[in-house]
Amino acid sequence: MSKNLRALSARFAKNKTLFQTLTEIVENREAPLERKLTAFADESLISPAALLGSASFYDFLYTQQTPKRAHLCNGTSCQLSGRQAEARAILAQRYTPEEIGQAACLGHCYHGGAYWQEGHTCDTTSGPGEKASAIPFFPATNSIFNAPLASLDALYQTTRLAADRICDELTASRLRGRGGAGFPFATKLASCAQADAAQKYIVCNADEGDPGAFSDRYLLEHQPHRVLAGMLAAAEATGANTGYLYIRAEYPQAQQCMAAAISEFEANGVTENGFQFHIVRGAGAYICGEESALLNSIEGLRPEVRLRPPYPAQAGLFGQPTLVSNVETFAAIPWILQHGGAAFAARGTDLATGTKLVCLDAGFKQPGVYEVEMGTALIQLIEERAGGFRQPAKAVQVGGPLGSIVPLERLAGLQLDFESFAQAGFLLGHAGIVAIPRTFPMIDLLRHLFSYMADESCGKCLPCRLGTEKGQHLLQQASAATPLSRQLFDELLETLELGSLCALGGGLPLPVRNILDYFGEELEEYFQP
Ligand SMILES: Cc1cc2nc3c(=O)[nH]c(=O)nc-3n(C[C@H](O)[C@H](O)[C@H](O)COP(=O)(O)O)c2cc1C
Ligand code: SF4
Repeated sequence: MSKNLRALSARFAKNKTLFQTLTEIVENREAPLERKLTAFADESLISPAALLGSASFYDFLYTQQTPKRAHLCNGTSCQLSGRQAEARAILAQRYTPEEIGQAACLGHCYHGGAYWQEGHTCDTTSGPGEKASAIPFFPATNSIFNAPLASLDALYQTTRLAADRICDELTASRLRGRGGAGFPFATKLASCAQADAAQKYIVCNADEGDPGAFSDRYLLEHQPHRVLAGMLAAAEATGANTGYLYIRAEYPQAQQCMAAAISEFEANGVTENGFQFHIVRGAGAYICGEESALLNSIEGLRPEVRLRPPYPAQAGLFGQPTLVSNVETFAAIPWILQHGGAAFAARGTDLATGTKLVCLDAGFKQPGVYEVEMGTALIQLIEERAGGFRQPAKAVQVGGPLGSIVPLERLAGLQLDFESFAQAGFLLGHAGIVAIPRTFPMIDLLRHLFSYMADESCGKCLPCRLGTEKGQHLLQQASAATPLSRQLFDELLETLELGSLCALGGGLPLPVRNILDYFGEELEEYFQP
């Protein structure tokens, strides 16, 4: 079934993908949705039910509800920042309650109090129509992401190496994906390069949905050409001729900056090999950061996670070999090609090379995006570079809602690299760090994690679809008068971990167990002895 839909969708993708057309149809409210979908179904040969099934998945495509004109950020950082009441009051002066929706994270975690209104993201520092506060950036010495650029031509020149040479340098660099899993980039590149197909794609995952992370947003808005040049090098190495940037709807400025950079790239005549970039705007769904759901989303299919194998490098976008990587991964490539893979591998640790962008939220004295050598001591970053916590804290959340919860007493032994975190029972993920104040109840964090995942589960597999809902319900009911069975809760975590198809359901137990392990005393009253 999805194979047929995918084939029909591929026919559509010349100038706009099916998803882009579907978004336009739903957003244009001049005619009734049903009539528009039926007409589009006739044109696309895809049933109205399948079209509605896709469109109704997204938070920002209002197929049923009153259209929202503004959204208040309810991401973890904004909830903890204490600035939401102020943001809510600003919106209440301009809109009716029905016109105000919620957004999971707008990427303003360095300030808090974020909101989205009619195509712009703002926070409580900005007045109507003004720009919100800029993202503070603290580069490493000999920065990989902020190194001075002689010219755009010089930057794009670095990608004009022979395919074998690009593969060799990237292999030598031992670059690992920055989107969360840390998969070796060169392995994925080689697999896509070896695939035998006339059409291949490069896809940049700019869905950065983790509350607490805004480093991809920084790169898209401030280093757009590095991202494009990284994608172009990957295209040279694999033989791809088309690139898609899937940028979340919550980042309108990032979309504008990337669109301007693509125009500049085209105007400079650097498209002589015919490579085409396309931007696809997301529509509000956390699971679209998962690479196979993202590909389904671009195709206009319901963005459910795909079974693997086949992996995207063999059968990805429109069933063709596709290299999907994170914004930061692509943005590191020009430096590697300019300085050589060995120079990149000489930085960081043996297993985690290079530098990493780490985001510190408004709970730190000096929040922002920090570029650190992989392997840097976490405590050094927090205390020496960021000046410590703004108010007394008891833990930090690292790597978003599917990352880990590290209590203060465990900060000291941790280095910022994948292995150090994994060996200690934590996860680095994309490395957004949110300070959890001492006053914030851990039961509320547990409830927040479960309700977030229950909302964002794609519903493809039963353990996650039902398990996240069940966990949310159990935690809402838990109180001193009606404590929760710990055995039942542990069994639920085990089912999620072992039975889920992807790391949304499968990853949730880690931060939950971190909280149970380290804050058991605080949570005692909510669980039966
Ligand atoms: C629920 C979920 C959400 C994800 N969100 C993102 C995301 O926002 N950005 C991202 O780059 N990777 C995200 N990933 C990881 C991607 O599936 C994929 O591993 C990544 O884009 C590969 O790029 P990399 O190798 O450069 O890290 C997510 C994974 C899961 C399971
Ligand atoms: S674990 Fe959740 S998000 Fe992942 S495939 Fe299953 S239902 Fe979808």
